[in-house]
Formats: sequence, C-alpha cells, structure tokens
Amino acid sequence: MQSRILNQVTRLAVAAGLASALTSGIACTKNPDQTKLQYVPDMADGAALKSQRDFLQPPEGAVTRSAILYPGSIEESEKVLDNPLPATPENLAAGKKLWNSYCIPCHGVKGNSQGSITDVYPAPPNLVDKDYPAHKDGFYFHKMTFGGAIMPAYGHAIAPQERWQIAHYIHELQRAAR
Ligand code: HEC
Repeated sequence: MQSRILNQVTRLAVAAGLASALTSGIACTKNPDQTKLQYVPDMADGAALKSQRDFLQPPEGAVTRSAILYPGSIEESEKVLDNPLPATPENLAAGKKLWNSYCIPCHGVKGNSQGSITDVYPAPPNLVDKDYPAHKDGFYFHKMTFGGAIMPAYGHAIAPQERWQIAHYIHELQRAAR
C-alpha cells in the first residue's frame, strides 16, 4: 500500500517536472526571434508544396482510406456526379457569396468574363453564354476542383459542399442573363 502511494507521488513529481521543463522551454525564451521549442510538431511541419501547385493525384492502384476521389475527366464528372444539394434560397445565397469571393476577379460579378483582372490575366469564357447553361453541375464541380490549363484549381480551398453551392449559383447567373 505504502509503496503504491510512493509510486504515485514519484509519478506526479516526474510529470510536474516534465511539464515545467516543457513550458519553460516553450514560453520563456528571451529572444523573440529565436525559434521556440516545438512539442509534437508534426501538424505544423507538413510536406511542403510550392505555391500555385496542386496536390498530386495518388499513384495508380492506391487505395483511399478517407479521401473522396473524383472522376479524372470533366466529361465523366458531368455524367456521374449529381449535385447533392437542393437549389434552395439558402444554398443559392451561399453560392453567391462564394462566387463573389473566389470567382469574380476573372469571371466577373455576372459570370460574363468581365472580371477586374482580365486586363492582365487571360480572360475566361463567358459562362452565361453558348452551351454553358446546358452543362450539368458535375461539369462545374470538376472545373472548380481541378482548374484548367490557365484557371487555378480550388479543390483544396473550397469544400465540396461549397463547390456544389457555387454550381447552383452559376445556373442562377445563367437564368438572370437570359
Ligand atoms: C485567376 C482567374 C480565374 C479564377 C479566379 C477563376 N477562373 Fe474559371 N477560368 C479561368 C480561365 C482563364 C478559364 C479558361 C481557361 C481554362 O480553363 O483554364 C476558366 C474557365 C472556367 C470554366 C469553363 C470551363 C470549360 O472547360 O469550358 C468554368 C466553368 C470556370 N472557369 C468556373 C470557375 C469558378 C466556379 C471559379 C470560382 C470558384 C473560377 N472559375 C475562378 C480563370 C479563372
């Protein structure tokens, strides 16, 4: 019994010592420019990616545990991916907000390629014209996920649900342009 209590006390003392060593190491550096001691830094130090580069696709035959893999081609995406969200006023309003945050610099407020940076960046096609209104949501979802030859990819930045909301809003813009 006594030895068990002693054991507990020793463990507490070790834990307290460790905690104070850690906190003093982390918090009490005098020089603010000096890198602090990092405890379990594996979340902070991820694999480096160069800016403007997208993540690589997994190697052929790799089995996913949690990621959702989308079809590789835009034609297939248009065929097999359906918008899981209804076009409610809430989803349209959310899509509008996202469109106005991510897409208007190039595509313009109305989707007619009158973006504010198109004098310095290649202008995208007019999305409220030609066959664009006939394209299904899977087409738009794919384009946002993977980008194009010139258009940046947004798969890593805009959540799947938000991409579906934007797809609804693009159709709203197309209806407004009719
Ligand atoms: C930095 C400029 C830029 C931004 C921001 C941008 N796009 Fe684009 N987009 C382009 C350009 C340029 C093209 C045409 C060339 C290409 O596909 O790369 C294009 C093409 C498209 C097309 C036509 C695809 C086709 O194959 O005909 C769709 C749809 C589209 N963009 C949707 C979006 C959506 C939705 C967003 C916001 C999430 C967005 N874009 C943001 C530049 C941009």
